[in-house]
Amino acid sequence: MVKDYKEMSKEELEKELANLKAEYKRYQAMDLSLNMARGKPCHEQLDISMGMMDALNSDADLSCEDGTDCRNYGVLDGIHEAKVLIGAMMENKPENIIIYGNSSLNVMYDTVSRAYTHGIMGNTPWCKLDKVKFLCPVPGYDRHFAITEYFGIEMIPVEMTPDGPDMDVVEKLVSEDESIKGIWCVPKYSNPQGYSYSDETVRRFARLRPAARDFRIFWDNAYGIHHLYDDDQDYLIEILEECKKAGSPDMVYKFSSTSKITFPGSGIAALATSLNNLEEIKAQLTNQTIGHDKVNQLRHVRFFGDIEGMKEHMKKHAAIIRPKFEAVLEILDRDLAPYNIGEWTRPKGGYFISFDAPEGCAKAIVDRAKKVGVTMTGAGATYPYKKDPKNSNIRIAPTYPSLSDLRTAMEIFTVCVKLVYADKLLKEMTENAEA
Ligand SMILES: Cc1ncc(COP(=O)(O)O)c(C=O)c1O
Repeated sequence: MVKDYKEMSKEELEKELANLKAEYKRYQAMDLSLNMARGKPCHEQLDISMGMMDALNSDADLSCEDGTDCRNYGVLDGIHEAKVLIGAMMENKPENIIIYGNSSLNVMYDTVSRAYTHGIMGNTPWCKLDKVKFLCPVPGYDRHFAITEYFGIEMIPVEMTPDGPDMDVVEKLVSEDESIKGIWCVPKYSNPQGYSYSDETVRRFARLRPAARDFRIFWDNAYGIHHLYDDDQDYLIEILEECKKAGSPDMVYKFSSTSKITFPGSGIAALATSLNNLEEIKAQLTNQTIGHDKVNQLRHVRFFGDIEGMKEHMKKHAAIIRPKFEAVLEILDRDLAPYNIGEWTRPKGGYFISFDAPEGCAKAIVDRAKKVGVTMTGAGATYPYKKDPKNSNIRIAPTYPSLSDLRTAMEIFTVCVKLVYADKLLKEMTENAEA
């Protein structure tokens, strides 16, 4: 009979733990090597972009619509047709866009770095200030936190809700503290929860009245078109337009890339922002490069044609990864829900599922899983300084393993969760009995 672990007697729990240990041992003997750590597309997903390799060949005309020869130097901010395509993907006008190189994370790093060394729009460079702080919605994306940590920026966690960051806290902190210069946001299908910011959240962002004149919202819309379902998709209000309406057109830097659309590491990244911000950024960029990879930009344009081509392409991704997300949820629902252990999100897009283990258990679960060959994202990684105060959150990345490997990995994961939790409850029972 299925019973909530908390309602089990000591003897029942001991029996359950013995069964779990036996199951765990069986997995140990299997000598597995499975990885659910990073949000990487699987082989099949990469295969659907192979046509891009044929979009250009040695017979191709590598001229842009305006006659620019893509084989040569030049065009600092990207070819026009790439701006049109990526603009449509980001829901921004081509004139608000700079096309960069192969990684949006790189653009985010550069953006922080530029503010740090040279300041934003005539404000004091952050390196000359005693204190610079960033708000970090948690759980969040470890690589965002790594950038701000690298620059010695103090990170302040702000709780996420299914509607986005707790805006009461964001509004209060941003309006009172001039040393708060930015906030990391993944507004659609967030990493790791798969939450999308509500209309009200986006409007409240646009209406922020920061104490710092150089406060910027770092709006990383990495998963803007990464839906899992045709008929049930999240929708996000466009932030640049909303900031403009609210009278703060310069308050946001918006990032995106085709990393999880074509080839991660060989896609194209872009920044969308106000014309004022663009002008300042281009003045710096001209000292950094003569221009990014236009051949790759052209290849993407010729492969997709337009945004409709891109949307069709995303349906192929969804067809591959949807069953994986559903398998993860099915196993969590089957193995943990009846025992009332943990909580998890049910994303409609993006790349991750966020799992909250009972408090104090995440590290031990990830360690246990690792010892039987299942690699998860490190516990704590979803928090600034890798410090999850509840030691509870674990990010699940379902896309990379094959469906059968994923099922095995998840079955092991749920055994580890139950094992660690049963162990914890038993220890608590013993301690209470001794007290
Ligand atoms: C929220 C978010 N932003 C950015 C990236 C990385 O993007 P890029 O490959 O363009 O650097 C990822 C990858 O996992 C991500 O989850």
